[in-house]
Amino acid sequence: MNSEPFHLPKPWVIAHRGDSGEYPENTMASFRNALEIGADWIELDIIHSSDSKIVVIHDDTLDRTTDKKGEVKLLPYGSIAQADAGSWKDPKFKGEKIPTLWEVWDLVKSKNIGLNVEIKSGAYEEIPIETPIEQELIDYTKKNSLFHKTLFSSFCWDSLVRLRELSIEARLGILIGDETSSWMDALELGFRLNAFSLNLSAKGLDKETVSKIQNEGFKVLVYTLNSEEELKFGIDLGVDGIFTNYPSRMRSLLT
Ligand code: G3P
Ligand code: MG
Repeated sequence: MNSEPFHLPKPWVIAHRGDSGEYPENTMASFRNALEIGADWIELDIIHSSDSKIVVIHDDTLDRTTDKKGEVKLLPYGSIAQADAGSWKDPKFKGEKIPTLWEVWDLVKSKNIGLNVEIKSGAYEEIPIETPIEQELIDYTKKNSLFHKTLFSSFCWDSLVRLRELSIEARLGILIGDETSSWMDALELGFRLNAFSLNLSAKGLDKETVSKIQNEGFKVLVYTLNSEEELKFGIDLGVDGIFTNYPSRMRSLLT
């Protein structure tokens, strides 16, 4: 069996923000544990700091997941790196930092796990960014020969267009919000960009829609299913992968 991430048996167990049910989301502790428990993929979110470092955090601000406040894109990496990103989850995680994307890559690139990099800030930000994030991502992936284990995704479709302009090799997942856009629009973009997957909310999704998308040649990845009941629902839909904060729970349902 080919054990490269894109060839793993479906549905993939995708550790959403790492093993984020048990560990502080988007931290090295969370990613290390996702590796430990045998997730197929890790998903993380990235944003540019004010000095163009790619940091791993979900929200626009530090407020919810650290002991500091402020908008990430307006702060230099030096201040972001001082934030405690662990204590909000549990005091035992005090001292966990907001990692850079490169630190996470260093942890996972030699391991048998895929990385889904979700871009939260794109090429067409309101404030000009000297180095567009997409160019950096493609340069790094190419230099380190990591296309075979990387899926880029974004709700910002302009960002996906830019990635495709920069690389024909990059695998792209088109993220679709609950209400913002329909899977049919995404399908159209999927053909145009030769995308790998449509990444949808599981809310309101049915087997018929999943099959339709798959029959058009795209994988279907769904977010974010956590309880045993939700995970069973997702598995039963016949999707190709499930984003979950409880990857070990999903793994035990599959074995
Ligand atoms: O990529 C799947 C999921 O992470 C998208 O939503 O808000 O959790 O980044 P969000
Ligand atoms: Mg995400």
